[in-house]
Amino acid sequence: TLGPDVVDIRTFSKTGMFTFDPGFLATASCESGITFIDGDLGQLYYRGYPIEQLAEKSDYLEVCYLLLNGELPTAAQRKEFERGIMRHNMLHDQLMSLFKGFRRDAHPMAVMVGVVGALSAFYHDSLDISNPEHRRISAHRLVAKLPTIAAQAYRYNKGLPFSYPKNGLTYAENFLHMMFSTPCEEYKVNPVLARALDRIFTLHADHEQNASTSTVRLAGSSGANPFACIAAGIACLWGPSHGGANEAVLKMLDEIGSVENVADFMQGVKDKRYKLMGFGHRVYKNMDPRASIMKQTCDEVLNELGLHNDPKFKLAMELEKIALSDPYFIERKLYPNVDFYSGIVLSAIGIPVSMFTPIFALARTVGWIAHWSEMISDPAMKIGRPRQLYTGAPRRDFTAVEKRK
Ligand code: ACO
Repeated sequence: TLGPDVVDIRTFSKTGMFTFDPGFLATASCESGITFIDGDLGQLYYRGYPIEQLAEKSDYLEVCYLLLNGELPTAAQRKEFERGIMRHNMLHDQLMSLFKGFRRDAHPMAVMVGVVGALSAFYHDSLDISNPEHRRISAHRLVAKLPTIAAQAYRYNKGLPFSYPKNGLTYAENFLHMMFSTPCEEYKVNPVLARALDRIFTLHADHEQNASTSTVRLAGSSGANPFACIAAGIACLWGPSHGGANEAVLKMLDEIGSVENVADFMQGVKDKRYKLMGFGHRVYKNMDPRASIMKQTCDEVLNELGLHNDPKFKLAMELEKIALSDPYFIERKLYPNVDFYSGIVLSAIGIPVSMFTPIFALARTVGWIAHWSEMISDPAMKIGRPRQLYTGAPRRDFTAVEKRK
């Protein structure tokens, strides 16, 4: 017990009221005009445009322009933007040497955290974050270089020589080329697969204040270098509850093995021994609209490749069928999220599982930097500084080491 003259530092009476909301279930951390989610209706809008329309009628680079600038580009603006992105897609030669410092078997996300963070060592002296033009160029550099970095992380892991970006290809085609072309053979891009990848990029481009975007905002609120802030976002995205879910879905399907084991696995989920990866969402308590689009894309890709009888796909469909009809999952509103299907699509395209989350990271980079830019340009910006409920020891006096028991 504390003596009468000792203030109990567990009380915050002098600082007034504050909310205690672990996991931010009901706390808005900012105002934003970029993305709107209606979780009850299962709707997602970028700058007011429904995701379904953007996924069908637009493409990733146009969506990048929209997220960064607030409006769809005119034909001339689009051309200029594409040219600007292409201008920045190479990596500084010294940055290329950095890859060699990593173990060959490092996870590509670990390499991306390091290499994207290192961009801050290349673009620091000329960067004034209060200057809108500098913010714009930083955004272009990031959107342009992330696919190059992700593809190089993969190639380093495989011991393949670097494949340079090729202008004249679309953003998704160029990524496939950088991943898979070899000095002996140019990768032949299948337009159906390139379109599916572009759609994955579009669907992952932004998702308001998710964990990684909030991380980028919090890091940026101290005025830190934007490339370092994006590295913080990549680190946060890596976890299996967030961007790592697409990789975890494929691992889960491998572990279940075959359709006969599904019932046992589902019982294990209900007994809380496992999580059903690729299911559930903090905000969507109805279908994730991205998942519906991704499911359709999944169909297109599997048709194109003649993979509808693929055992992994059949297994995934069995899981989905049970989850959508079982009261346990219905009561908890556990619907498939975008990453349940995107993992299957990426796998069918031939992307190795370890690259699933790096692909999410490169697609989300535009959302992160759009939020960073929106925050920095707000004159009322404040450093993010959450409070806490202290649960530790009360005030006590220091004991000399010889008297400690
Ligand atoms: N599998 C099994 N049960 C689940 C799952 C799941 N995937 N998700 C939630 N639940 C259960 C919980 O055990 C809990 O049950 P209870 O009421 O009996 O205790 C109930 O549903 C509510 O779960 P919460 O943990 O409160 O949900 P929360 O909103 O905190 O979590 C999250 C959301 C992290 C996405 C969670 O659903 C999850 O881990 N899903 C799997 C990972 C995943 O797919 N993540 C990708 C998210 S989308 C994205 O980042 C692009």
